[in-house]
Amino acid sequence: MKRVGVLVSGRGSNLQALVDAARRGELGGEIAVVVSNVEGALGLERARKAGIPAVFCDHHGKKREAFDAEIVEILRAHRVDLVCLAGFMRLLSPAFVRAFPGRIVNIHPALLPAFPGLDAQRQAWEHGAKVSGATVHLVDEGLDSGPIVAQEAVPVLSGDTPEKLSVRILEAEHRLYPKAVRLLLEGRCRVEGRRVIVEGE
Ligand code: GRF
Repeated sequence: MKRVGVLVSGRGSNLQALVDAARRGELGGEIAVVVSNVEGALGLERARKAGIPAVFCDHHGKKREAFDAEIVEILRAHRVDLVCLAGFMRLLSPAFVRAFPGRIVNIHPALLPAFPGLDAQRQAWEHGAKVSGATVHLVDEGLDSGPIVAQEAVPVLSGDTPEKLSVRILEAEHRLYPKAVRLLLEGRCRVEGRRVIVEGE
């Protein structure tokens, strides 16, 4: 069984989608540990409810490298094969990225490379994009810049507000993330430069 570590900072609805998919046998692996830099994160609570080890790791007063080294140690102790960022609001240091080469993924609420960074749904809405969506990508040392594994488009409607659009994008995220994680855990992705070639696609 492949083992997944999930990093969260907040509500953890994507974590929940991964947990639910694993329970249904649709993830291609199991969630081995959930780590958060926020003590009261709902994501930690969701993990505990699901019987998954939930670890709080405080980042306050620590250099990024020291904090990241602690998280890497926790993930290694739980022998994770893949690290999933799910609303984890900290930038990873190069040392963290190198500790799990090609084995860290993130979900972003826009169609990258459009609208990287914070508040991507609002960025797309303010820009007047007619289509936005969700992206799962491998994590490199940049901000939302790694090779794209999977995307789902979501139309931006005339009556949308950033909030309404966010709700529909989140629904897409919950479909997309488990599917993308499964592709990775089953070893069906090969990276060629910036391109992720998915077997059978
Ligand atoms: C999601 O919109 C995700 O795309 C972004 O952060 C948000 C996390 O939401 N990276 P949740 O904690 O999974 O509910």
